[in-house]
Amino acid sequence: MAILITGGTGYIGSHTVVELLNLGTEVVIVDNYYNSKPEVLNRIKEITGIEPTFYEVDILDKEALAEVFNKHRIQSVIHFAGYKAVGESVGKPLMYYKNNIAGTIALLEVMEEAGVKDIVFSSSATVYGLDNPSPLKENMPTMDANSPYGYTKVVIEQMLRDLAHSDEEWSITILRYFNPIGAHQSARIGEDPQGIPNNLMPYITQVAIGKREKLSVFGNDYDTHDGTGVRDYIHVVDLAIGHIRAIEKNTEKRGVKTYNLGTGIGYSVLDLVKAFEEANDITINYEITDRRPGDIDTCYADVTLANEELNWRTEKTLMDMCRDSWNWQQNNPSGYDNLDAVTE
Ligand code: NAD
Ligand code: UFG
Repeated sequence: MAILITGGTGYIGSHTVVELLNLGTEVVIVDNYYNSKPEVLNRIKEITGIEPTFYEVDILDKEALAEVFNKHRIQSVIHFAGYKAVGESVGKPLMYYKNNIAGTIALLEVMEEAGVKDIVFSSSATVYGLDNPSPLKENMPTMDANSPYGYTKVVIEQMLRDLAHSDEEWSITILRYFNPIGAHQSARIGEDPQGIPNNLMPYITQVAIGKREKLSVFGNDYDTHDGTGVRDYIHVVDLAIGHIRAIEKNTEKRGVKTYNLGTGIGYSVLDLVKAFEEANDITINYEITDRRPGDIDTCYADVTLANEELNWRTEKTLMDMCRDSWNWQQNNPSGYDNLDAVTE
């Protein structure tokens, strides 16, 4: 029996595939390469010694997706595929609603037809919106998501709860990620943002390598210990391992389970800059600029539920995250476009 990974060549998906393959689990990946590259598959093979089964399929294409379910005995699905740029979603809401929501409906319909009713879904801390106070708990209301991207997650979560309510055979786990950063310790897979990075850590590493002149720190007048925004940064490998635990739990227990995946610790923008400088013995050029519209002061998780029910705890420190992000960037200055990429 195999686990189907949608979006498995993406940032979080590829790290999860590596952890699954290392455990000897059979994996089938589908991705349309909208935001990833075929080279990822070579890198996964390099790390694990296993060539993952891959289909270039858009999840909106039900026929192609159904064929994958026909070819393989799929036990459960981890559903990463989706668009994720908050700012872009404000300008292109229909594109986001179509890909994320219609894509998930297509996947769920194909799963239902194939009799596979076991799914782990990538949600986001963004569903907690602007008003819930940190530490954020799974039972807090999730209405005001603040962007079309965020609303796709709110809607999909509701759709999954309704589905489980309508048919008790479904096993569904919703994972709300906080801020994933870092890369595999081999430095062979990592985050490969296209164009100017939206997120803090890839921006820092691009300043460090000289691709960008300086980091803009978006506001220093927030209600936090140093005035800059506080987030819950989690190492992508810890996050990937969270999915393994979720898959195990999902097969044990039907219905919907929802878990925060974070460390439970909040660090500010300047804390992260300082940690990066210290971990890598490098100076990051930065300036304080205006706030970025839509940003909140503080966002970090209460991780009690995941600790207790999934028996999962993060192991990597902020130093590990900073070191692994920098190793990845240094070894792959142009991401997966590297000319020195290893292809066997
Ligand atoms: P990513 O863009 O690196 O990976 C997503 C993958 O899905 C890409 O490889 C892309 O090509 C693929 N994809 C997109 N639409 C598709 C479609 N219609 N059919 C097939 N493949 C498709 O993103 P990521 O950071 O790995 O995020 C994975 C999931 O986690 C996403 O759903 C994202 O919204 C969610 N998430 C990410 C973060 C984060 O900060 N990275 C935070 C919270 C939640
Ligand atoms: N920041 C800067 N400069 C930058 C980029 C970011 O100062 O160039 C600051 C932001 O203002 C914020 C912090 O760094 O205070 C983190 O910003 P990110 O863009 O890295 O992350 P966000 O918390 O804004 O968003 C992330 C994901 C979203 C997800 C959200 C959930 O990108 O997909 O976490 O909380 F919805």
